[in-house]
Amino acid sequence: MTQMRHIGLSLGADLCWPAFYEDIVKELGPTFRHGDEEVGVRVERVSIEPFALRAPVKYDVLLDRLTHWYHTSREWIKKAIIMNGTYVLNNPFTLQSMEKHTSYVAMMRLGMPVPETWMLPPKSYAEAADLEVTLATYAQMFDLDAVGERVGYPAFMKPYDGGAWVGVSRVDGPEELHEAYEGSGTRLMHLQKAVDPFDLFVRALAVGPQVNVIRYDPGAALHDRYKVDFNFVDAEEHRLLEDMVLTINTFFGWDFNSCESLRRDGVFHPIDFANPCPDSQVTSLHFHIPWLVKAKIRWSMFCAVTKRPMQLNPSWDEFFAIADDQDMGYSDKMAAYGQIARGRLDAVAFAEFCDEYLADLDQVAYEYFATDRARDIVRRKVAVLFPAAEVDQFTDHFWGLIQFWRKTEADRLGLAT
Ligand SMILES: Nc1ncnc2c1ncn2[C@@H]1O[C@H](COP(=O)(O)OP(=O)(O)O)[C@@H](O)[C@H]1O
Ligand SMILES: [Mg+2]
Repeated sequence: MTQMRHIGLSLGADLCWPAFYEDIVKELGPTFRHGDEEVGVRVERVSIEPFALRAPVKYDVLLDRLTHWYHTSREWIKKAIIMNGTYVLNNPFTLQSMEKHTSYVAMMRLGMPVPETWMLPPKSYAEAADLEVTLATYAQMFDLDAVGERVGYPAFMKPYDGGAWVGVSRVDGPEELHEAYEGSGTRLMHLQKAVDPFDLFVRALAVGPQVNVIRYDPGAALHDRYKVDFNFVDAEEHRLLEDMVLTINTFFGWDFNSCESLRRDGVFHPIDFANPCPDSQVTSLHFHIPWLVKAKIRWSMFCAVTKRPMQLNPSWDEFFAIADDQDMGYSDKMAAYGQIARGRLDAVAFAEFCDEYLADLDQVAYEYFATDRARDIVRRKVAVLFPAAEVDQFTDHFWGLIQFWRKTEADRLGLAT
């Protein structure tokens, strides 16, 4: 009898990658043998509805895009993990408690060159019962200029739990520092030394043990920030960037995350790496979207078919033991963290699984991304984001980049075109 595994897509406004994902999974075929079992995978979109806390949940794996802001889904997912053993990308427990600030502290503790960062008490507060007495008794008047000097200019003021560039400002001197602080209102802010100048900005996108290091231009227009570029880091740097994001992810128990790093004088400084819901739209990822879709398919299928248990309790001692080793240099430490990370992610078993069960995936995706159906999905996404007069132009633009991906893929796979 076929054992069914259910993968749920817990979605918000995402339109393109889920459709690509569903189409390609369908194309891969309904069932395959895993050990003694015949296993079938069914993909469904999760609906939002009232639920009993003891009710069964049929999903083996959830790809979630709502947890960080939509509470009904977050709480249903938390219940599914605890009560029903569901595996979720990403673990909502760690996302809520391990925001940007925590991730800075943790990676500093592991010795990564996160720029100097200070936290500032908020400029103003919403009223709360004991607030006045607490502040009057304990909050020290502080000299913002002195903090600015300690951090150094240029610097970035940004929310301690931020995302999507909201509330981020660059400050080049004391005047701008005061302006940014005045404007921060009730938000709890960091002041972080800028990596400036830098000669390379990368985003390392990771899904399970799979990492794609992409050059990124934060100053470009939104549709042009992820670059199509090759060989912009050497093999050693590439390995370091892989180790970095996999370390961060396994430290917190994240499966899907992107790590922003800036290179200065040959050193990669991570500056933003608590991104539980990384940008996954064709309108920003274009050339790179097939990689993401395939990576999600591989990892979610692996987790579902092998019934991978979730890493629920963070286990930090192993990382700290390496961090505390006085005889080890930075690059050896990073390699050692990377080894722990790959072990936790079962990278070897995963690679074997992909070879054995998903050998067709590259070819299927290569063909799929030439179809009218795929093009239509790109167009629909473009139509949501761009003015009507630009829909044709930008559909051609993104589709053209995907076709360029197909060309590089044909070369890589040795396919006849
Ligand atoms: N320390 C820094 N050095 C250089 N640039 C920075 C630094 N911090 C932030 N930035 C710039 O500001 C952008 C937004 O900041 P980031 O920390 O990524 O916040 P968010 O979580 O909102 O994306 C970054 O992509 C980068 O361009
Ligand atoms: Mg960022």
